[in-house]
Amino acid sequence: MKDDKKEVSRREVLIGAGTIAAGAAVMSTGITGLVSKAKASGDAAYPYKKLDVNEVGRIAHETYFTKFCAETVLTGLFKPLAASVGEPYASFPLNSVFWAHGGLMGWGTACGTLIGAGTAVGLITAGDSKKVTTSGGRAPVAVGEAIINDVIAFYASENLPQYKPAAGQAKYEIKNQSISDTPICHISVGKWMDKEDVKFFGIERKERCARLSADIAMYTAKLLNEWADGTYKPRNEPLANALDNQITSQGNCSECHGDNVPTAKGA
Ligand code: HEC
Repeated sequence: MKDDKKEVSRREVLIGAGTIAAGAAVMSTGITGLVSKAKASGDAAYPYKKLDVNEVGRIAHETYFTKFCAETVLTGLFKPLAASVGEPYASFPLNSVFWAHGGLMGWGTACGTLIGAGTAVGLITAGDSKKVTTSGGRAPVAVGEAIINDVIAFYASENLPQYKPAAGQAKYEIKNQSISDTPICHISVGKWMDKEDVKFFGIERKERCARLSADIAMYTAKLLNEWADGTYKPRNEPLANALDNQITSQGNCSECHGDNVPTAKGA
């Protein structure tokens, strides 16, 4: 009983004053339920229950056409958790990451799928302060950082999109996959548009980004499921790009610098 009280006050602090509706929703889900689910992931704020990866992909693909990349990936992950866990997922303002579409409001920087995935992973793993790295890795990081680092590496190194919508769900039949070598929206979508020979403002490109959103949401769910099982191990060395190049970077230097890749001071 004492523990339950402690849980409530922590929740109230996390939610912040003034959001009475959210607080009331937590009360109605039942505090004991919240505590036991919280135990499973080690985080009281955003208790995690293992996701059905295929359901995540289906929700993400269908959500993309109205919500675009960032909100779509967050929806793919949080909508099933709203059903299986309840609060705080049920009242989470998914549109709080909408702005990240088009690589942050069309500026073509980081792909919005990664902002959505990173937001989910950050919230879900916030209570897990365990540091991890690869064998021989130079920088131990929080487990959530390692997970999102692996999601970014997957984005940059895989042939995408891979997701195949169920019959009747595709708005266009995609012919090509491409490897971006970077998490940058502009380069990722540009390489694919070039290969597929389509324009940006068309249903063909939207179908590609819808499938890619499903891929990223599904891969994130897969790693979160491993984390919940206690079997997650980082696949890629955290912060390797920055440490190797002595500047925040990706692996595709020559695409912009040609043969004259500068060497950073300190390298
Ligand atoms: C998306 C394009 C792009 C990619 C990819 C890229 N760079 Fe750069 N980089 C730039 C631009 C633009 C600048 C600004 C300075 C300039 O014009 O040289 C810059 C600046 C730098 C600088 C600091 C300026 C200098 O001359 O010392 C270094 C060092 C550097 N890049 C190294 C790298 C390395 C190493 C990689 C690969 C790991 C890389 N870059 C990948 C575009 C890129």
